[in-house]
Amino acid sequence: MADKVVLAYSGGLDTSVAVRWLKERYNLDVIALNVDVGSERDLSAIRQKALDIGAVKTLVAEAKELFVEHFIFPALQADALYEGQYPLATALARPLMAKLLVDAALEEGASAVAHGCTGKGNDQVRFEVSISALAPNLKIIAPAREWGMTREETINYAQRYGIPVPITAASPYSIDANLWGRSIECGVLEDPWVEPPADVFTWTKSPADAPDVPGYVEIGFEQGIPIAIDGQEMGGVSLIQQLNQLAGEHGVGRIDLLENRLVGIKSREIYEAPAAVVLLQAHQALEAMTLSKDQLRFKQKVAVEYADLIYNGLWFSSLHQDLAAYVKSTQRYVTGTVRLKLFKGSCQVVGRKSPKSLYSYGLATYDKGDQFDQSASVGFIHIWGLPLKTQAQAQPPTQDEGPLGIMKPKKTKGKGK
Ligand code: ARG
Repeated sequence: MADKVVLAYSGGLDTSVAVRWLKERYNLDVIALNVDVGSERDLSAIRQKALDIGAVKTLVAEAKELFVEHFIFPALQADALYEGQYPLATALARPLMAKLLVDAALEEGASAVAHGCTGKGNDQVRFEVSISALAPNLKIIAPAREWGMTREETINYAQRYGIPVPITAASPYSIDANLWGRSIECGVLEDPWVEPPADVFTWTKSPADAPDVPGYVEIGFEQGIPIAIDGQEMGGVSLIQQLNQLAGEHGVGRIDLLENRLVGIKSREIYEAPAAVVLLQAHQALEAMTLSKDQLRFKQKVAVEYADLIYNGLWFSSLHQDLAAYVKSTQRYVTGTVRLKLFKGSCQVVGRKSPKSLYSYGLATYDKGDQFDQSASVGFIHIWGLPLKTQAQAQPPTQDEGPLGIMKPKKTKGKGK
């Protein structure tokens, strides 16, 4: 009996070809594992396809709940956005897939696991770093990195062996999708000057075709976790699905990013992430109301680190454990409701409230009921400005140009008689 390999199988071109290639090249019996993180593909068709190509067995791991609870919501609480824009849908799913792949390999007595990533991307790193943290002795095979075929040659290989090809010349994109978003690259998108054609987008309406009337949505949060839409409580999976639908309808969630891959390449990726964009904005608005200025400032730095470690495949690191504990602690009072307005591609926070709000009407108001002692500002300004005043006198600016050049006393023209 041949050794077994568990392949992370999406049903796309590369992993389909890999089913056949792993048998041919390594004489391994392929067990195709599809991890369902909400890509909304037809799972039974995917399984059948794997069997048709030659897999000895197919497995489906229903992982939407796990994905939301252990990956998406912690990242949301951290406000993780890679390079300020990408909500990390693809990056977040990889460590979960790695874990389920390892579990399946142990269960099935497989000697190896395999994934369909190429040698140019981030996903190979995420898979392999995660797998080796979880099961250091498991062999990892990356067919698409080894076989040295171009995309076209891969398509030819598929056609030669009767493997159905899911992409056509008209739609040459590489797509990855899960609950948290859809990532699209390749084809004309590789020219960063080219505007993404309409057929790139399937989750979001073009803002031009979005409703002429704005949509409003209220998101209820409990300790940084979204729990309700418009007052109706629901589980995380349904909440995200509903928001993807609603915000996508208003053209919200399109992102065009020229990003820095871990492997040193700049690449252009289009994302559709309606729910993620809405939730990240809402969550930040609620934090603005419930965290102190110092907490917010520090948390923003952590958010950058957090996003980087997710992007860079370090989910199972000790640094992550430490940062996650910090993030969780910050969320103690991030409870309340945020109202957002969705209109022709834009998403704006238009209201927020919280039982733990730090916003004090009495301190903020300019109307009667003002509780702020304005006379106390005099002393505050005196002390706050003291070092600056002292320094400006002892060490006046030396440059004529630049932002402080203007501080120099103006030369009055001494006109003699
Ligand atoms: N650039 C994104 C990341 O590294 C997405 C990668 C997968 N994209 C794709 N179109 N298949 O997380």
